[in-house]
Amino acid sequence: MSAFSNIPKIILDTDPGGDDIFALLWLQSLVKQGLAELIAITAAGGNVSTEKTFSSASRILSLGGLPDVEVGRGVVTAHSSNDASHIHGNDGMGNLSLQLPAPVHNYEMARRSDDLLIERLSAMPGEITIVAIAPLTNLAAAEKKAPGILRKAREIIIMGGAFHCPGNITSHAEFNVWFDPEAAEIVLNSRCDLVITSLDVTRRLIFTREMAQSIVQSNPDSELAQFLSNLCEFMIGTALEYRETNGISGFLVHDAATLGYLFYPETMMWIRARVQIETRGEWTQGQTLIDDRNLAKQPANAWIATEVDAARFFTSLLEDLKRLISMQT
Ligand code: RIB
Ligand code: CA
Repeated sequence: MSAFSNIPKIILDTDPGGDDIFALLWLQSLVKQGLAELIAITAAGGNVSTEKTFSSASRILSLGGLPDVEVGRGVVTAHSSNDASHIHGNDGMGNLSLQLPAPVHNYEMARRSDDLLIERLSAMPGEITIVAIAPLTNLAAAEKKAPGILRKAREIIIMGGAFHCPGNITSHAEFNVWFDPEAAEIVLNSRCDLVITSLDVTRRLIFTREMAQSIVQSNPDSELAQFLSNLCEFMIGTALEYRETNGISGFLVHDAATLGYLFYPETMMWIRARVQIETRGEWTQGQTLIDDRNLAKQPANAWIATEVDAARFFTSLLEDLKRLISMQT
């Protein structure tokens, strides 16, 4: 039993992905520190296929020391042929998966992620925080199968969207929303208090080579430290190729921003707005829109991060990653 009676009970919906992996390791550090409880992982299709994201989630749970956490297998949709392997590697792990132990979870035997969400949210109404750092396919499938189920979550925190900055998969759209815009629309209409960390703040979260080196220097013999450094190097390569970091040798840890909100809320500032999704635009598919006019509006459905104190954010992220490593040695 943790010393903290009100620690977040989390289901992480994820499509590993280099930045997903940093977020999952950060979360495992917080769990090991008694600051969070990881109820389950619901793997999703997105960066790479549902099979690969399932396998990566299993490997990273083992690497972080939580191999017994259940992993759901992602809901497959017509969108699944798209991916972001050009950014994250063919395996979604910087092509480093073969350096890691084999997955301990069985894809064919695993529960579907939407069924896992429905069962856990029904069993623990009002208690579970969903951290959604993938396309919203699983969450939308759960809501379609069990209407109102998403309102049984305590909170839903989403990495997604781009409001006053360019997209990353197209000039107008961010990848998680673009991948399955109909799913995003369903989730955005499911409740009025969604929490969204979009590219507007995640574009400021550059994890640098120096940060990775500080982790290795803190524990030079650690396999986890070396894996993080190797993954960072791979992600730096693709980030520079796609000019995502203005020439800085680093990569954007988009997904980790969700945990910044949960555990280090003093690092962020927010506005309230009604977010709508473009689902039919020929050139703007997946665009996320808010109405900035000084006119009375429809009720808001989300809080959107507008500022992040990147220095304080990374101080906490690095310290927690170093603690995870030190707890393994
Ligand atoms: O646009 C950033 C999002 O897309 C992140 O979740 C990253 O993992 C990619 O999937
Ligand atoms: Ca992701």
